[in-house]
Amino acid sequence: MPHGGVVHMSPVDVAGLASPSPGTRGSQLLDFALDGETKVFTLTTQVARWSILPGVEVGAYTYNGAVPGPMIRVTAGDQVRIVVNNELPEPTSVHWHGLQIPNDQAGAALLDFFKPRVEPGTFGGKVVAGQVAEFQPGTVSHVRQGRFFISRLEDGGMLALWHRCTHLGCTVPLREDEGQFHCPCHSSIFTTRGEVVSGPAPRPLDIFPSRLSMVR
Ligand code: FES
Repeated sequence: MPHGGVVHMSPVDVAGLASPSPGTRGSQLLDFALDGETKVFTLTTQVARWSILPGVEVGAYTYNGAVPGPMIRVTAGDQVRIVVNNELPEPTSVHWHGLQIPNDQAGAALLDFFKPRVEPGTFGGKVVAGQVAEFQPGTVSHVRQGRFFISRLEDGGMLALWHRCTHLGCTVPLREDEGQFHCPCHSSIFTTRGEVVSGPAPRPLDIFPSRLSMVR
């Protein structure tokens, strides 16, 4: 609420809203409709009740009723349209996370990972992670210089996951015997795609933008 040039936060009114169905989770794959050859994904921003701990619900701004929002997966060459319906009580914009790069290129490809809008050499600056062939499908590699993991997916895609827990920022090591990240501070668990298996982490691990560069 604007007041004297300052914006005051106030709790979201969720009186009258139903609780989420048991088992409702964020970060799930979003279905699409086909319009000719175009894949049409629909996002609805809306206020909802959201469970953050057993027996504890809060009011939340959500995409499609969940926190975090759904995952949109497309294939290189797809025509895509994303329709955003805003049912929030105020204007909004969409903050996109993640860029998964499928690749089968061998050998002479280099992977760069970087955070946008930062200066080279500072946190999030561009980091050359190595050659694609160094990262075998189904493996997770820690790139210490960049403070992220490269998770090579079974389908050949790659994710660059920041190694900080989204709860309070502890470093999350990989439990190789379980194939999951376990936060040592308050026991949040994440999959090798960064998805939250159990909290209190409120959202998936952050995914850095990544770029594949071919070198001669
Ligand atoms: S910092 Fe990871 S669970 Fe709290």
